[in-house]
Amino acid sequence: MLASSNERLFEQRSRQVPKGPYNVTPLFIKEAKGALVIDVEGKEYIDFAGGIGVCNVGHCPDEVVTAIKDQAEKFIHSAFHLMMYQPYIELAGRLNQATPGNFEKKTMFVNSGAEAVENAVKAARSYTKKSGIICFEHAFHGRTLLALTLTSKVNPYKLGFGPFAPEVYRVPFAYCYRCSFELEYPSCGIRCADYLKDVFHTYVSPQNIAALVVEPILGEGGFIIPPKEFFPRIKKICQESGIVFIADEIQTGFGRTGKMFAMEHFEIAPDIVVTAKSLSGGMPLGGITGKLEIMDSAQVGGLGGTFGGNPLACRAALAVFEIMEKHDLISKARRIGRMILERFKKMQEKYDLIGDTRGLGAMVAMELVKDRTTKEPAREETKLIIRKCYENGLILMPAGTYDNVIRTLMPLVITEEQLQDGLSILERVLKDISS
Ligand SMILES: Cc1ncc(COP(=O)(O)O)c(C=O)c1O
Repeated sequence: MLASSNERLFEQRSRQVPKGPYNVTPLFIKEAKGALVIDVEGKEYIDFAGGIGVCNVGHCPDEVVTAIKDQAEKFIHSAFHLMMYQPYIELAGRLNQATPGNFEKKTMFVNSGAEAVENAVKAARSYTKKSGIICFEHAFHGRTLLALTLTSKVNPYKLGFGPFAPEVYRVPFAYCYRCSFELEYPSCGIRCADYLKDVFHTYVSPQNIAALVVEPILGEGGFIIPPKEFFPRIKKICQESGIVFIADEIQTGFGRTGKMFAMEHFEIAPDIVVTAKSLSGGMPLGGITGKLEIMDSAQVGGLGGTFGGNPLACRAALAVFEIMEKHDLISKARRIGRMILERFKKMQEKYDLIGDTRGLGAMVAMELVKDRTTKEPAREETKLIIRKCYENGLILMPAGTYDNVIRTLMPLVITEEQLQDGLSILERVLKDISS
């Protein structure tokens, strides 16, 4: 039997598990339901992190638990490549329907977000017969070799792990609070979008670029929301240049932003949409949904994996779709997002530490700075706030290339009372730190 205090378990964790896998809190979880978590010592927490954006439908929703149990009693694994099963096909159909774009699509499944990104790139390369990939500053696409190459943040993600995959070209994102061109929206004319055309002269020809991979809103990068003109312009350049536009909706998907997929806000239909995280309510699953001709371009046997599209995960994901519809969680995301942003903006008026607040639906963030003029990132203060919130019963996740962003990824099923209580804990901590 394992000892059951957070401290004793942490001591065992330190001895048995390498330090590489980071821990935001020293908490060992015992159980969770909805937006509440209970640790091994019986202490309750309000969850504003949702297992890093995985639990949009909440912890352990009855429909997901029932689906997993039912499937486990029938069969747990067969390998889709060896013996097929209906939930895989049904879920592929749901994603083909739900993703933006009024064209024929196909979907395949893997085990994680990173693996989904890797497979999207494989499909794009196979279709275009080109190899280059364009990605963005401050992006996060996962930790496997190609996904890590596409990821922007150096420490801790990339430091010491090279050499990285070749033929990857990085361009600035529309991070208006810290504009790479030191311009201001809207007088900037969305210079960052047009910069892509410069890249075709200075770095690489579009004749060598297979795909552009981008998050609609940068997640790990700090919830950075581009102006509405950004994506239409980027998409047009891709279209003119025969470049497959891959939207990484792993963190933005499944209602988080107040639309099923965040690209809908920009009225963009990506050639490929990559999903994971909240797709399957906590079961490991990644999806690649794309235009029929792109998805069908790889040879038979060229895509796949032993566990990809595990039947339990597919059943869980089908239950997630049911819950989203039954409880209209997309509207709920808009509603709670408004409440969060309103309170964040009021906090910003009171506390100089908050340099910027931004949000789309329930994907809301505050960026903390030591000085509003220099915008020096308040890294240590952010860490302290997250620690103090934890001590006061609120689980929060940091974000941002400079580790100075607090983001909200709470389950969308959170009650209004839990939401306001959580925000009040954050405000009390901010007040203490600011005084
Ligand atoms: C936008 C985005 N892409 C890819 C990934 C990688 O997903 P996974 O951790 O499941 O490999 C993440 C994870 O945080 C993500 O936020």
